[in-house]
Amino acid sequence: MDDISELRAQVLTQVAAASDPDALEAVRLAALGKKGAISLRLRELGGMSPEERQRAGPALNALKSEIDAALRARRAALEDAALAARLQGEWLDVTLPARPRPRGTIHPVSQVMDELTAIFADMGFSVAEGPQIESDWYNFDALNIAPEHPARQEHDTFFMHRAAGDNRPPHVLRTHTSPVQIRAMQDQGAPLRVIAPGRVYRMDMDQTHAPMFHQVEGLAIDRAITMAQLKWTLEEFCRAFFEVEAVELRFRASHFPFTEPSAEVDIRCAWQDGQLKIGEGDDWMEILGSGMVHPDVLRAGGIDPDQWQGFAFGLGIDRIAMLKYGIPDLRAFFESDLRWLRHYGFAALDLPDLPAGLSR
Ligand code: DAH
Repeated sequence: MDDISELRAQVLTQVAAASDPDALEAVRLAALGKKGAISLRLRELGGMSPEERQRAGPALNALKSEIDAALRARRAALEDAALAARLQGEWLDVTLPARPRPRGTIHPVSQVMDELTAIFADMGFSVAEGPQIESDWYNFDALNIAPEHPARQEHDTFFMHRAAGDNRPPHVLRTHTSPVQIRAMQDQGAPLRVIAPGRVYRMDMDQTHAPMFHQVEGLAIDRAITMAQLKWTLEEFCRAFFEVEAVELRFRASHFPFTEPSAEVDIRCAWQDGQLKIGEGDDWMEILGSGMVHPDVLRAGGIDPDQWQGFAFGLGIDRIAMLKYGIPDLRAFFESDLRWLRHYGFAALDLPDLPAGLSR
C-alpha cells in the first residue's frame, strides 16, 4: 500500500508539473502506457494470492482512474491556457480607424465638379451625361451647326476613323458638352433642368490649352423661361462658387449657333499683387457663354419650341478651378505630379456641400 500511495503522489506531481501537451503525454505513457508503472502493477495481480489480489486490485484500479482524470483535467487546462495566450496575441481593436491618414487627394477638377454639382443641385438641377465619342449629328448638326458652318473649323475637332468606303460622317471626340443638351432633351423631355460636367477635346495645345479639358453645360427648359432667370442663376452660381457675397456679372452680346440671343458673361475682378480678387476692382474677365436655346435646337431634342423655351450656358471647369484656387499653369493639371497634387489637392473625405462651406 505504501508503494501505491508513493506512486500516486509521484505521478500526480508529474501531471501538475507538465507544462505542455508533449510533457503531459510522456507522463501518461510512463504511468498508464503498456509498460507504464501502473499497467505493470496491474499485470502483477495475476501472480498474487487471492487475498492479496483482493486488496491490491481495487486500490490499483482506483489509482488508475484517479490519474486518468487528473491527466484529462490537466490537458483541458493546458488547452485553455494556449487558447487564452493566442487570443491575447491576436487581439485587435476593430474600432480603430482603418486608415487614419489617407494620402491620396482629390484633384482640383474633381473638387470643382463636386462643388458645381452641389450648387446646381441646390437650385434643382440634376446631372446629365453623354458619351465622349460623339456622333457628328449630336456634336454639330443638332446644335444648329450645319456642315458648312464656320464654327466647325473653330472647334479643332479630333475625328475618329471610318473604314475605307464608309462615307458617313466620322464620329468625333466631343468638342464641347453641348451635345448633352440634346441627349437630355431626348431622354427626359420638358420641363428640364440639368447640368452636364465632363471631358471635351480639341486639337489645341500650348501654354493655356490642353487637347483634353473640362466643361460644364447647363440647360433649363420650361414654359416661360427668360433671360432674367439665366442672369439670376449665373449670379447665384458665381456667388456660391467663388464664396464672395458681392459678385457682378456683365452680359456682352455674342454669337453661338445654338442660342439666340447669345451672351458672353464677364465677372468683375481685380488683380492685386498677382492675386485675383473676384467681385472688386475695375477689370472684367470672361468666364462663360450662354443664351436662350435656339428653336432649332429644341426641335432637334424633340421639344416643341412653340410650347417651351429655355436657357443654356457652358463654362470651362479648368479655368474656373485655376481662378478660384490660384493655380497658375493649366498644363500641371494633367501631369499627374504627386507633389502638385499634394499641394493643390483636397482632402478625400471632405465632400463639398453648401451648408458646411464648399472648399473649407
Ligand atoms: N459650347 C460652347 C463652347 O464650347 C460653350 C457654350 C456657349 C455653351 C453658349 C452653351 C451656350 O450652352 O449657351 O464654346
